[in-house]
Amino acid sequence: MLKRWRKLIVTVIAAPLVLSAAPAGAQQNVRIGVIAEFSGPFADYGNQILNGMKTYLKLHGDTFAGRKVEIITRDTTGPSPEIAKRLAQELITRDHVDILAGFGLTPNALAVAPIDAQAKKPMVIMNAATSIITTRSPYIVRVSHTLPQDTQPIAQWAAKNGIKRAYTLVADYGPGVDAEGAFVKAFKAAGGEVIDSVRSPMQNTDFAAYLQRIKDSKPEAVFVFLPPGSETIAFMKGYEERGLGQAGIKLIGTGDLTDDGMLDAMGDPTIGLITAFHYSAAHDSPENKAFIKAYTEVNGTKYRPNFMACAGYDGMAAIAEALRKTGGSVDPDKFLAALKGMKLMSPRGPIMIDPQTRDIVQTVYIRKVERVDGHLYNVEFDKYPDVKDPAK
Ligand code: PHB
Repeated sequence: MLKRWRKLIVTVIAAPLVLSAAPAGAQQNVRIGVIAEFSGPFADYGNQILNGMKTYLKLHGDTFAGRKVEIITRDTTGPSPEIAKRLAQELITRDHVDILAGFGLTPNALAVAPIDAQAKKPMVIMNAATSIITTRSPYIVRVSHTLPQDTQPIAQWAAKNGIKRAYTLVADYGPGVDAEGAFVKAFKAAGGEVIDSVRSPMQNTDFAAYLQRIKDSKPEAVFVFLPPGSETIAFMKGYEERGLGQAGIKLIGTGDLTDDGMLDAMGDPTIGLITAFHYSAAHDSPENKAFIKAYTEVNGTKYRPNFMACAGYDGMAAIAEALRKTGGSVDPDKFLAALKGMKLMSPRGPIMIDPQTRDIVQTVYIRKVERVDGHLYNVEFDKYPDVKDPAK
């Protein structure tokens, strides 16, 4: 009896809330709440993601299955789980968004995931690359990459190309820990030896002590993951100043180290660096040419489009395609069903959303930094097709 009353009360209280939260009529805009880093040291992350989303809308229009999409941006100001959480709550309860998107940094994505699981909103990760993120809500889909996915190919490539003793240096948080684990596992399995591993604080810009230790232990190569920005610029400067290259220590990494958006700022010391990654501005395809042209028309020349811009573009493409498939419905279960197994031709090459893990399956390219027409680019020369996140 008590149970029945309780049920009735809950229904009565919940009903008006549900009514006001649910958009009525097919003509209502689809609201996408983009939570990302738009200011502070990681401001490029949010801006590249948003610029990529806008590029898709410029090329394909903003209305899909009769529903116009509306982007609402919110700034986490950096790696700020508490702010990210509050922004997600506000976007869901006050702004009534249908979809969450963005997320450059892992701590922000992880903070929002439990709120997302409860609110049941499709959540499209456009960068954050720690493997576990997609396991934290059944409504999360990732269109970017995972660190193990980009790391395993460079470990295998290095071992195959004569490197037998390596050292690892990673940023001490989710993606760095994932990269270290994936490198050690794949490099050992391919016959290599990891002589030591070190982790630097996430926002570190003084690598002198780490570089000296690495130099003293004389590995054949050092594998590096750092989040692109002042960290990668400082690391590259230190590597050059301490003469690790002259000492014969090769530098290898995931393409985060030679981010297209940072390459020209890092300059000539990057020439010859070999990395593995899923996107290069130099990728030779009609889709990438059209993407770069439209990106520049929409956003100007402040940024060269990078992997985050590409994931913003692809995330918007996936949302558009899901809307077409559901006939404009944003019912979370229908929307997720439309995303699972989705195949798209991205500026980076063919991509697919794994229906089991909701993570991306894609080609990982091996690239070398070269000067092309006066600018530095990651020039692709080998590839591993259909790579899944090996950590799952
Ligand atoms: C992350 O925080 O998950 C992250 C940030 C920058 C990257 C990759 C991953 O380049």
